[in-house]
Amino acid sequence: SLPPKIYTREEVRKHKTVADGVWVTYGRNVFDITEFVELHPGGSRIMLAAGGSLEPFWAMYAVHNQEHVLEILNSYKVGELSPQDEAEVAADVSDPYSRDPQRHPALSVNSLKPFNAEPPAEILSENFITPNEFFFKRNHLPVPDIDASSYKLQIEGPRGQSIALTLADLKTKFPKHEVTATLQCAGNRRSEMNAVKQVKGLGWGIAAISNATWGGARLRDVLLEAGFKDEMEGAEHVCFEGLDKDLTGTAYGASIPFSVAISPEHEVLLAYEMNGQVLPHDHGFPIRVVVPGVVGARNVKWLGKLSVGPEESQSHWQQNDYKGFSPSVDWDTVDFKTSPAIQELPIQSAITEPKNGDVMTGDQNNITVKGYAWSGGGREVVRVDVSLDGGQSWQVAHLSGQKQKSGRAWAWKLWELRAPLPDKVSELNIICKAVDSSYNVQPDTVAPIWNLRGVLSNAWHRVHVTVRS
Ligand code: HEM
Ligand code: MTE
Repeated sequence: SLPPKIYTREEVRKHKTVADGVWVTYGRNVFDITEFVELHPGGSRIMLAAGGSLEPFWAMYAVHNQEHVLEILNSYKVGELSPQDEAEVAADVSDPYSRDPQRHPALSVNSLKPFNAEPPAEILSENFITPNEFFFKRNHLPVPDIDASSYKLQIEGPRGQSIALTLADLKTKFPKHEVTATLQCAGNRRSEMNAVKQVKGLGWGIAAISNATWGGARLRDVLLEAGFKDEMEGAEHVCFEGLDKDLTGTAYGASIPFSVAISPEHEVLLAYEMNGQVLPHDHGFPIRVVVPGVVGARNVKWLGKLSVGPEESQSHWQQNDYKGFSPSVDWDTVDFKTSPAIQELPIQSAITEPKNGDVMTGDQNNITVKGYAWSGGGREVVRVDVSLDGGQSWQVAHLSGQKQKSGRAWAWKLWELRAPLPDKVSELNIICKAVDSSYNVQPDTVAPIWNLRGVLSNAWHRVHVTVRS
């Protein structure tokens, strides 16, 4: 075969637009990816690497670290870098995740960089409060390393006012308030949706949900101190920015309605404690927003800035992600502007024990089924029904949890059913479904709620168990 064409970095740099061709390098190889730009599953961000090397971007988005991605890339190879230019590239790649904290080995990891992991589901139903190490972790970027002594929260008002609060300010100038609230990722149970038809996103099981007691300053108190009033012209949304940033300096961001943020009933917190401990690095040290009853994505961690204005956050995660769509919408037809950003989540429940595929022996007279149930917006779970025979008959599970104020049931309920094992069965098709205080129920199957991003997956949860005589 012919020797590869040799290019200098200078020549590669000239190819940064679709008109001139889009070239990138990876290691010593040069690629012309002009035709792939439109096909890229990660969207137009791919252009950030145009004319340069992929390494720093792929270190940030480690989803590329897969055989099938390299195969795609290799199909666009046009040549190699000259040896001196190649040496220059190798020197400047460092791992942006090298300062991420240690994590518990029992977590099941969906993505290492950024870190996304869920605990074994049976751990969830062991404790009403999920221990911090086992609380699910959902990061979009590297965990920022923040110096608590120089930390400042920037607050901006609708008329250009700006104040900054230190961590000590937040801890001492405002009364500490505690809220026990369940956090659930919009993608919890996505893998069941993916099984119906492929969706785009991390393959979460049933444990991207956890419950903690959060301690911190009420956002309401901080807003009042900053000069905001209950009703204010132009104050429609509160936008949050994290201190975790991508390579372009864009921070994770999200927003909630101002009416939620300022209301005493919603108990929105700027939390610095989680289950009586200093907020852990993975969960937003030193300050995170906790919005009880609202999807995880709005509970912004490593909070750096808060601003009040007439518009929702312009962040990618508020505008072009974390929205629901009809099953008929695909990636060619989707228009993110047509759906509202997810805030309150729908009624949810799942079976943590037994597990799908478990085998019981017929000499066991009883079966114990366990799980969790939760609903968004402070709606209380009032009942969980369990079937052992695929939905032909139902039994009501025993609920446990803490007493919560009406309309402010922020925490989940754990539930349990102990029942005699039905006679002469060789299998159990166990189902659970919950009912909340508005009598909202879960849909029985996944297909009618399927959506391309795999969010809001809350169909009846089903587990199959074999019984050996
Ligand atoms: C996802 C290929 C460059 C950001 C993906 C996926 C492929 C891909 C195949 C889907 C992976 C999967 O889910 O299994 C490529 C190729 C590139 C390239 C061949 C270069 C020639 C980039 C660059 C960036 C980037 C430069 C960022 C600046 C992303 C992101 C995702 C992604 C964020 C995840 C999308 C999501 O699931 O929401 N890429 N990529 N990619 N890519 Fe790239
Ligand atoms: N905040 C910042 N700054 N960066 C993030 O990546 N992820 C969000 C939210 N807040 C995220 C964030 C998402 S999608 C979820 S589900 C929750 O944090 C997860 O919180 P946890 O890791 O404490 O469970």
